[in-house]
Parts: sequence; C-alpha cells; structure tokens
Amino acid sequence: MLLGVNIDHIATLREARKINDPNPLDAVSICKLAGADQITIHLREDRRHIHDIDAKAIIKQSALPVNLECSINEDIIDIVCSLKPYRVTLVPENRDEVTTEGGLDLENHFDKINKTIEKLKENDIEVSLFIDPSHKAIELSNMLETDFVELHTGTYANIYAMLYSNLRNTQHSIKELELSKEELKSMLDKSLEDIKASSNFASNLGIKVAAGHGLNYQNVKNICEIKDIIELNIGQSIIARSVFTGLKSAIKEMKSLINE
Ligand code: PXP
Repeated sequence: MLLGVNIDHIATLREARKINDPNPLDAVSICKLAGADQITIHLREDRRHIHDIDAKAIIKQSALPVNLECSINEDIIDIVCSLKPYRVTLVPENRDEVTTEGGLDLENHFDKINKTIEKLKENDIEVSLFIDPSHKAIELSNMLETDFVELHTGTYANIYAMLYSNLRNTQHSIKELELSKEELKSMLDKSLEDIKASSNFASNLGIKVAAGHGLNYQNVKNICEIKDIIELNIGQSIIARSVFTGLKSAIKEMKSLINE
C-alpha cells in the first residue's frame, strides 16, 4: 500500500501567524526519509493554507511525486498546468467548508470535468478524481477516462469516530450521526461495503484506486485490508500525531537553549 502524506496542515499552522514558519517544503524530505511514497497538497481557490509559491517550490524540489488536489476552476487549472505536478486530483470545493466534504458531482459537471481532464492530459499530467464510493461515480469516472480515482472515506471515518471514539460527547459531535450503536454499526458495515465494491469495480475497469479523507491510526486498518486500493492519502491525523510525538524534544531543546 502506497502512502501519500498530505502536508497542507503544516501550511495551516504557518498561516495562523502569517509568517514563514513552518514551511511545508521542509516537510518533504522528512516525509521521504520516513518512507512516504508521495506528497499531497491542495491548492485551494481561497489559498487558505498552500500558496502558489509553496506548490511551485514543492513541485520543483520534491524527490517524491507530487499529487496536487484542486478544483476545476479554470484559473486554478491554468496555474496547475504551468506547475506540472506528477498527478492532479480534482476535488469539489466550497468556500465555507472546513475540509473537502464529499466527492465530485460528476453527473452535473460532466462536460467541464471532461474538458479539464483533456487539458491536464495534454499537459502530460496524470489525473485522479475524488469521488464518493458509488457504482454510478465509477461508471462516470470510466466514461471520463481518468487514470485514478480516489474514494472519499470521510463518511466511513465519521461513522467510525461516532461509534468507537468519544466524539459524540464533545462539542464536535456529528448531529446527524447521533444514532444508536446498532444503527451506526450497520451504517459502518454499509460504508465499508460501498468502498470495497467501488474499488473492485474500478480496478476491474483498469482504473487505479486510491482512498482518503479522515483516515487515522484507529480506522485505517479496515481500509488497508481492501486489496483493490493501492494508495492512501492521509494528512490531518499524521500532522496531529507529529505534534505530540515531537513535543517532548521541542520543549527539551528550548529548555536547554534558555538555560545555556
Ligand atoms: N484526499 C483528499 C482528496 C483530500 O481532499 C484530503 C483533505 O485535504 C485528504 C485526502 C486528506 O484528508 P485528511 O487530512 O483528513 O487525512
């Protein structure tokens, strides 16, 4: 199983202070040394984390292939074609969302997505579509002749968190998932079944299958057991964990510095 590490959240931390630290480019060689197979970044229309200058520097200097997520906005696609990342993953984008909330609406944006894919391919960029795990979405992806699909695992991850973590007792409880354990269990089984069936369908059609969104140290096991999925893109949980795995040495370093 290949791992793409999404480093947007390093830029999010930088944007909290609007300074030049931490620089997401600095994470690239650490990701490589740690065994990551790919760097994933999202150049959003609102530039809330990754900026054009980050995307340019990362694409120019990364030893790992760069998977750039973006919307089908024409200005963004022009920029992306000039940057020439290894792969582009087209995602839906909505200004008010905290993070990408679901897969692309392929049915209603078929022609525009088709044109975007053509343009990316003319620029020799591999194309992936971020889609919900459904039969229909795979059929449409196949018609669009995409190289890859990335199955949205956010629904699975949300159900998993409401069932097996303390999320429902916190201020971030997901209201529409405040259901009995029995109901959540059958929803979790169904969401896993959808992911399995969609990956199998896509893989049989010759489409490479990735998955991502909301995957973490608890919920990833079920997903990596699905044999048709060859790659996972994971961001928030890895960056969140690195805060704690690195906190002790960061404090020790500062303590020794101020006591020198
Ligand atoms: N894949 C896609 C297409 C995404 O939009 C994101 C979030 O930017 C991820 C993977 C990573 O999600 P997470 O940060 O929840 O691991």
